[in-house]
Amino acid sequence: MENQSFIDALVREIIQPGVDGLMNIRYFTELREGKLSAKRLQGFALQHYLHNIAICKGFALCMVKNAHQPDLYDHFAHQFSEEKDHPALAKKFGLAMGLKDEDFQNALPVFESLAHTGAVLRSMLLASPAENRAGALVNETMVCRYSEEFDSALQKHYRLGEDAREFFIIHSKVDKEHTALAAEVVARYADSEREQFLVRESARNMVRFKVAKFDGIYKAYA
Ligand SMILES: [Fe+2]
Repeated sequence: MENQSFIDALVREIIQPGVDGLMNIRYFTELREGKLSAKRLQGFALQHYLHNIAICKGFALCMVKNAHQPDLYDHFAHQFSEEKDHPALAKKFGLAMGLKDEDFQNALPVFESLAHTGAVLRSMLLASPAENRAGALVNETMVCRYSEEFDSALQKHYRLGEDAREFFIIHSKVDKEHTALAAEVVARYADSEREQFLVRESARNMVRFKVAKFDGIYKAYA
């Protein structure tokens, strides 16, 4: 891949420390110990359900925006087809945790999730392709990692079966491919000092939004 050293530095200096930091906040330390409340697990299901619907709409927007540019159009069409069923998977997990249909109908994003989703959609609408996909590279890397944590803790401490854990089983594997695809777009389009600066800023911000989102869920669903 062209620009590989830039991507390697981005991952080493910003993304990997961000993932490590996320895994050390109380949401995940309590999850690993089996001490995270059912309400906070439900909170993730509701908040991610709302976020996933938003990013499906975002991918559709990106397809329209980039319909004249075959590589980007194909990228966003593929991402849309990958994500289109994921709101339903987040909901399935929430229902297994005791939520009802109307909880999803009535859910609103908590403040920090609103900021995270807002930043993702802003990037899809306004940012350059490299800046936009740098945020995705952070998000996909983090979803991949935290899904492994959810999957093993939900099996071990919360006795959830495979069907209820499907969101996490899929994301701990499939998002490795999504991470690689996002990295390819960033590498291809981060072809100037300015673009590389925008990529680093986008990645730094996305790390902070993601950590804040889980802290926000922890607080809002106390
Ligand atoms: Fe997904």
